[in-house]
Order: sequence, then structure tokens, then C-alpha cells
Amino acid sequence: MNIRLARPDDLAGMQACNLQNLPENYTMRYYLYHAMTWPGLSFVAEDQKGRIVGYILAKIDEEAKEGEAPHGHVTSISVLRSYRRLGIAKKLMLQSQEAMAAIYKASFVSLHVRKSNRAALSLYRDTLGFTVKDIEKGYYADGEDAYAMELSLARFMIDTGTIPRRPTLEMNR
Ligand SMILES: CC(C)(COP(=O)(O)OP(=O)(O)OC[C@H]1O[C@@H](n2cnc3c(N)ncnc32)[C@H](O)[C@@H]1OP(=O)(O)O)[C@@H](O)C(=O)NCCC(=O)NCCS
Repeated sequence: MNIRLARPDDLAGMQACNLQNLPENYTMRYYLYHAMTWPGLSFVAEDQKGRIVGYILAKIDEEAKEGEAPHGHVTSISVLRSYRRLGIAKKLMLQSQEAMAAIYKASFVSLHVRKSNRAALSLYRDTLGFTVKDIEKGYYADGEDAYAMELSLARFMIDTGTIPRRPTLEMNR
């Protein structure tokens, strides 16, 4: 299994993976927008044949007010069913978090998750340390509520800058 930065020619594979795994789907234009605007933040997991088996689509939040520190946002993450529980999503999340801190000096990362999504909630809260900041009523198209979750990226910074501290990342794998 190889985890690497997503390239424009991966976007169709990422979209196919998303369509298999989630009801929240996006136009190719939206994938392209992510890839062109924040080219360092989205990653893919590929099998030996180069087939995309997981992805994280991420961005820097565009609604930050003037003077506010930038923060990262996970638009979508999924892993094909037969490749789950191998630590792929955890690695994708950590790679993207490290890039958010290093490239954009992002102070934290946010995301939304369905209240009923036990696997994702466990990944975010128990494995990665996200906390619930808010409940957004009826956030999803079918009316389900979302947890709005956040995680500080301070551990990816050193005191005076944003150089990622590799040993810290390794320790959390
Ligand atoms: C959520 C999802 C991305 C997790 O991917 P994954 O590669 O299987 O996750 P990982 O192997 O990295 O799991 C890391 C940890 O998350 C937790 N976790 C993952 N899947 C879990 C499950 N089905 N039940 C409970 N905990 C789970 C565990 O704590 C796991 O650590 P462990 O295997 O050592 O116990 C995957 O299940 C998926 O694609 N689901 C459908 C799409 C989706 O819901 N995306 C999130 C939208 S917000």
C-alpha cells in the first residue's frame, strides 16, 4: 500500500472511490478546485496496481474572518470496504494534517461527521483526538445531524515556526 499526494490524474479514481463509499458526492469540478487551489493537502492510497483504494480531499477553510488564523478542513475521506481497518484512513488524515500545518500554518483542522457514523467517529475522536465543537442540526441532505469536530495542529509545529516534527508524527502512527 502506498500513500502519496493526489495528482490531477487521480481525481477520477478518487471520485469513483467516493461514489462507492459515501452519499455525499461532488462534481469533478469540485475535485479539481481542491487540487488546483490546495495541491498539497489531498492524498491517495493506492494498491500494487496503482488503483485508488482510499483518499482524503482537504482544503483550507475559506470562511475564516480577517485576522483569524487559517484552518484546515477535511471535505471527504473514504477507504474501499476491503481495505478497511488497515490504518489507511489514519495515515491519510495524518499526512493531510501535517501538510496543513507545514504549508498553510493551519492552527487546527475541522470536519463534519454524521452522528450515526460510528467508524468515522471512532477514527476521529478515539484514534486522532478530535473533539465535538457543535451539533449542526439537519446538516446532511437526508436531514441527519452532524457533529462539527476540531483538532489542534499545534503538535505539528515547533515553537517558532511550522516545520513539521517528524518524530511526533511517527509516534502517533
Ligand atoms: C471511516 C473510514 C474512512 C475508516 O477507514 P479505515 O482505513 O478503515 O480506518 P483505519 O484503519 O485507519 O482505522 C483507524 C481507527 O479508527 C477506528 N475505526 C475504523 N473503523 C472502525 C469501525 N468500523 N468500527 C469502530 N472503529 C473503527 C478504530 O479505532 C481504528 O483503529 P484500530 O483498527 O486500531 O482499532 C472507513 O470506514 C470508510 O471509508 N467509511 C465510509 C466512508 C466514511 O464514512 N467516511 C467518513 C465520512 S465523515
